[in-house]
Amino acid sequence: MSNPILAPYPAARLRRLRKSAAMRALTTEVSLGVSNLIWPIFVTEIAGGEGEIASMPGVERLTLDGAKRAAEYAARMGIPSICVFPHSDPDQKTETCERAWDPDNIGNRAIRAIKEVAPELVVMTDIALDPYNANGHDGIVRDGVIVNDETVEALVKMALVQAESGADLLGPSDMMDGRIGAMRTALEAAGHTDVAILSYAAKFASGFYGPFRDAVGASGRLVGDKKTYQVNPSNREEALRCVARDLAEGADMVMVKPGMPYLDICREVKDRFGAPTYAYQVSGEYAMLEGAIRNGWLSRDVVAESLLAFRRAGCDGVLTYYAPYLAETLAQKG
Ligand code: PBG
Repeated sequence: MSNPILAPYPAARLRRLRKSAAMRALTTEVSLGVSNLIWPIFVTEIAGGEGEIASMPGVERLTLDGAKRAAEYAARMGIPSICVFPHSDPDQKTETCERAWDPDNIGNRAIRAIKEVAPELVVMTDIALDPYNANGHDGIVRDGVIVNDETVEALVKMALVQAESGADLLGPSDMMDGRIGAMRTALEAAGHTDVAILSYAAKFASGFYGPFRDAVGASGRLVGDKKTYQVNPSNREEALRCVARDLAEGADMVMVKPGMPYLDICREVKDRFGAPTYAYQVSGEYAMLEGAIRNGWLSRDVVAESLLAFRRAGCDGVLTYYAPYLAETLAQKG
């Protein structure tokens, strides 16, 4: 798209279109609505594990009942989707991660509980081994190496059990090679033809995930870092190759993560592939905004502004811990 040639000043006065609220409304290019939101929640199976997360003020780990209430709330407010993250019992984390595909793990119980009270919600999941892995990695570790193909087999089992539990949208966040194709094939074979995949396609090895790792109790455990599977923050071309690959393997939707520091990638993904594109405004972005807001350094208006940026960058939707806050704000505006 090219810009129209501007007449020289004073024929062109760009302030004419900013003169009144109505004129600004008329010339608004993109908007952010409640239908653009996916709300990530943390669900705990640990007695006393519920409550506020220190590095994410305002965000709580929920019990199963709390997750049900959140789902009812989302349905009432018009938030179309909830994404479930498990806070699992540390005593049951193992090197082989078998709880990841246990139908009764907390993630799968939460899916069923949410479907019970709000069947119309799109229930999204996380597929990665970290909540169930003794060493905090997304994949199986053998002799210090995160082994790809064996991890993919485990992830496929996880995907099938989540689909069986009633998930609508699977979110592989593990960044192993070949997992999307393997999951799609297995889902089709098992008759889960309508279960969609939102691939964490361009997921960068980011420092912005810190508070999330606190939230799911993975912080102290992680041995080393995730740089052998998540994308180098310097690499735009590589991120685009990841997206191309995941779409070719059968991803229905793709994600860029983190969000705000990677808006250039969002725009390029949308322009190049035209696929349903989502960004994850991750825990560290939330902590950064919320910390400044609570200190009085920023006004709460920056929340909507930060989310609007994703729409401007071409995203169809955003995973954000601010989903309930934004839903309230939009409802008040009418
Ligand atoms: C791990 C996973 C992470 C997030 C979602 N899934 C963290 C990581 O890769 O270490 C981060 C989300 C956030 O920071 O809000 N599979």
